[in-house]
Amino acid sequence: MRQKIVAGNWKMNNTLDEGLKLTTEIANMVADEVRGDVRVILAPPFIHLSQVKSLIKDTDKLFLSAQNCNENESGAYTGEVSTSMLSSIEVEYVIIGHSERREYFNESNEQLAKKIDATLSEGLLPIFCCGESLEVRESGDFISFICNQINESLFHLSTEQFSKVVIAYEPIWAIGTGKTASSEQAQDVHAEIRKYVASKYGDKIADETTILYGGSAKPANAPELFACPDVDGGLIGGASLKSRDFVDIVKSF
Ligand code: PGA
Repeated sequence: MRQKIVAGNWKMNNTLDEGLKLTTEIANMVADEVRGDVRVILAPPFIHLSQVKSLIKDTDKLFLSAQNCNENESGAYTGEVSTSMLSSIEVEYVIIGHSERREYFNESNEQLAKKIDATLSEGLLPIFCCGESLEVRESGDFISFICNQINESLFHLSTEQFSKVVIAYEPIWAIGTGKTASSEQAQDVHAEIRKYVASKYGDKIADETTILYGGSAKPANAPELFACPDVDGGLIGGASLKSRDFVDIVKSF
């Protein structure tokens, strides 16, 4: 089902105390100020997930996401975390294929397809990130680049499996740079993604797919971005570390 979502990706930020303070502030503000049907997702580092969960489990607006997972079920993969471990502590979502994972950890479309499978087979919901670098954008062929990411990592899924996937379009040139895509640029790419999904899964599934925008989203630009017909919310990095900014973004629909 198409769902309004604002997800905060903390990346490698916040000690446990800082993370729990941030969670408490966000939970209180969301309870007092957020009406309607927006789903708010927090994606802290692995080590904080359990304790963040205990602070949010009584609310029905806040959900928990991991920032990554390993594609294997279990075994000798030192330092890695499996999807069954995540589901055992009641994590609901997993961010898959963030551009920082692709760039610094060499995650390929093929490996991400396996992570998507591992996530879905545990009943977790993937937030699949795609998006082009500045170089690809300037080459002019960025839509086919993004469609290829989606094709190689998602289009092996059955319709039922695909209907669980949230897509996040994150132009790399806008991540952490203060340079946001204009609402026209975001809307154009989101509409192309939806069209591409329709070409594989049909109009109904495409219309129901949740597509988030990510890249320097903040309270000042979120209302315009979220007003675009094909933008269903945001994946927020820097601004998710400040409770007031993050909740103001949630209230931007
Ligand atoms: P940013 O990050 O909001 O800091 O640009 C977005 C993201 O990487 O998900």
